[in-house]
Amino acid sequence: MDKENIRNRIENLRKQINYHNYRYYVLDDPVISDKEYDLMLKELIELEKKHLEFFDENSPTVRVGGDILNKFQKVEHKIPMMSLDDGFDENDIREFDRKVKRFLKMPEDADIEYFVEPKFDGLSICLIYEDSKLTNASTRGDGYIGEDVTQNIRTVKSIPLELEGFEKIEYLDVQGEVLLTKEEFERINNERLKENKPLFANPRNAAAGSLRQLDPKETAKRNLIMFAYYLREIRGLDSEIKYQHQAIELLKKMRFKVSGLNRLCKNISEAIEHKNRLGEIRNSLPYELDGVVIKVNSFEMQNKLGSTTKSPRWAIAFKFPAQQETTKILDIQVNVGRTGILTPVAILKPVNIGGATVSRASLHTMDEIEKKDIMIGDYVFVQRAGDVIPEVVKPIKDLRDGTQRKFKMPSACPVCGSNVAKDGAYYICTNINCPKVLKESVKHFVSRKAMNIDGFGDKIVEQLVDKGIVKDVSDIYKLNKETLASLDRVGEKLAENLTGAIQKSKGTTFAKFIYALGIKHVGEFVAKILAKRFGNLDALKRAKKEELISIDGIGDEIADSIISFFSEQKNIETIERLFGYGVHFTDEKEDSENSLIKNKSFVFTGSLSKEREYYKSLIEQKGGIVRSSVSKKLDFLVAGENPGSKLNKAEQLGIAVIDEKELLDMLGLNYEG
Ligand code: IVH
Repeated sequence: MDKENIRNRIENLRKQINYHNYRYYVLDDPVISDKEYDLMLKELIELEKKHLEFFDENSPTVRVGGDILNKFQKVEHKIPMMSLDDGFDENDIREFDRKVKRFLKMPEDADIEYFVEPKFDGLSICLIYEDSKLTNASTRGDGYIGEDVTQNIRTVKSIPLELEGFEKIEYLDVQGEVLLTKEEFERINNERLKENKPLFANPRNAAAGSLRQLDPKETAKRNLIMFAYYLREIRGLDSEIKYQHQAIELLKKMRFKVSGLNRLCKNISEAIEHKNRLGEIRNSLPYELDGVVIKVNSFEMQNKLGSTTKSPRWAIAFKFPAQQETTKILDIQVNVGRTGILTPVAILKPVNIGGATVSRASLHTMDEIEKKDIMIGDYVFVQRAGDVIPEVVKPIKDLRDGTQRKFKMPSACPVCGSNVAKDGAYYICTNINCPKVLKESVKHFVSRKAMNIDGFGDKIVEQLVDKGIVKDVSDIYKLNKETLASLDRVGEKLAENLTGAIQKSKGTTFAKFIYALGIKHVGEFVAKILAKRFGNLDALKRAKKEELISIDGIGDEIADSIISFFSEQKNIETIERLFGYGVHFTDEKEDSENSLIKNKSFVFTGSLSKEREYYKSLIEQKGGIVRSSVSKKLDFLVAGENPGSKLNKAEQLGIAVIDEKELLDMLGLNYEG
C-alpha cells in the first residue's frame, strides 16, 4: 500500500470504529459483533504502530488509555461551572416558578415552559472541542479552576472524540455528568473486595475515583459513561439554538449520550409531575439519580434571568429524598431469632433516610462485621434502597478518634444465658427451649401470612411465654377468655375477640400451615411450592431429599432443613396436638378448578380500597398468582387510583388492565364502594 492508501485505510477504520462505538455505547444498539469490532480495532492499532506519522490524539485507539500521568494539571474554566439551587418539596418549586415570573415581569398565572431532566449523581465534566475535535476535558473543581482529565476522558466510550458531520464547529463547550451504572459499581467493588482494597461507598465515589486515576488504562477498565446536558458555548453553527430542548437535540445529533428521560413540560405542574414519575422508577434505573433539574426552556428568558454569583436563576434542582446518609453506631446489640441464631444489630443515632427514620440496621453476621471492619462508635454510611431494609455500607475510618471499640459475639445467649455454638457463619443459642426462640416462633405462627390470628400482638406473646402459659405453639389453642383477660393490657372485649380469632384461625390452607411451622429457610413462597407438590402433610413428612431437591426452587439447604424438622419427635408431637385442637385445611379444590382466576397472573398498581394483601390472598385461594412487576407474560394489571408507571408499561405491552370492580367481579364478590 502506498502512503495515501494507508492514510485512507486508517481514516476509514477510525470512522467505522467511532461509528460502532456510538452504536454500542451511546445507543445501546450495536450492529456488528464484538469479534468484527475487535478485528477492525486490531488492524488500526497495527497500522498506527507502523505509521507514526499518522498519529492522532483523538484516534479511537486512545480509548484503551494513554501514558501514566504524574499529576493532574490545573485548568481555568473560561466560563465558570456554577452549581444549582436546591428545592426539596413542591413549595420550593412553585416558589421558584413564581420568582422566575416576577423577574420576567410576567403575570402570576402565566405558564412558563420548562425542560425537565434527570439529575445524575456523578461528577460534572466540561468538554472543549476545537475545530470539531476534543481538545480538553476538566473536572468542576471549585467552579473556576478544575483538573485536566483529558487523557482519562478519552477512554470514556460514550464521549465523541470528534464531531462527525459537524466539521464546521469551531468551538464547543459542553457539560455533562460522568457516572457508573449500579452494576458496574458492584463489579468494581467485588473486585476490590477480592484484592483487599477499600470499597467505594457509592457509585458516585467510585466514578470520581475511576476518573482520577493517574493511569488512564485503569480508567479505561471502569466503563464510565457520560450524559451530556448543557451546551455552554458553540461557535460555527449555521442555525441558532433558542431552546434547551433544541440544544439537547443538537447534542444528540453530535452523538453525545443524552437522557431518554428528559421531558419538555408546558408549566411547573407538569414539571412536578415528571419529577414524581421519575421518583417512582428511580430504583429500577441502571444508574443513580438524586432528583431532577428543572430548566427554563427558552434561552432568551434564561439570558434575561441571568445568574447569581453561585447559580443560574433559570434552573433549580428538585431533589429526591436522600437514600444514603451518615450516622453513628452507638452500640451493637445481639438479637436472638426464631431459629436461635444470634444476629448482631447496629443501634444507630436515628437518621432520616428517604423520609423514614432509621435507628437500627442488621449487621447479619460476625464475618460481615469483620469484612466491613465496623466498630462500635464508628461513623458509618447507611443506605436504604427502595423498600429494602437499611444497611450499613461502610465505616468512615478517617473519623475514628480512638474511642471506637471492636465488637465481640457473646459466648452466652443474651436471653437465657446458655452456651452459644458456632455453626458455619452463624452463632446459635444451644438451648432448644430458649424463651426468645419460643417467643419468636409464636409471633411467627400467629402472624398474618401464617395462621393469621388477628390482634395477637407481640406484647401478648411475650407475657404468655414469660408466664409459662405457652410452652409450645399448640398451647395457643388451649387459651380461653379468662386466661387471656388475666394478661396486662387485655380487657374483656379484646380477650373475647382474641378467642374468636383463635377459633377462626383453625381453618387455614396447607401452605399457610407449612409456613406457620417456621421451618428454617421455608418462607411463604417455598411453603406454597411444597403445598402444591405434596398436597398433604403425610406426603411432605415422608419426602426424601432427592424428591425435594428435584423441585424447582428447592435446593440442598432447604431440603436438609425440612428433613431435619420432621425428624424431630418434638415437632411431630406439636403438629399432632395442633390437629387435635381442630386445625384443618380448607383448600377448596373445586373452587380453584373452574375459576376465572386459576393460573392467571395479577399485578397491582395505584391505591385500592382494601389492602393488597386482602386481594392477594383471595386470588391465591382461587389458584391465581400475584406478581410484583409487569412483564410480557402478565395476564392482568389491576389499576387503582393514581396508578404508577406499571400502567404505562402494561399498556405498551398490550396487557389487560382491569379496575378494582372488575377484579371483584372475577372473584365473584360484589363491589360495595
Ligand atoms: S445543569 C449551571 N443538568 O448537578 C449549572 N446539572 O447541583 C448547570 N447535574 O454541577 C448544571 N444532572 O454536576 C445540570 N441534568 C443536569 C444535571 C446536572 C446532574 C449536576 C451537575 C451540577 C450539579 C449542580
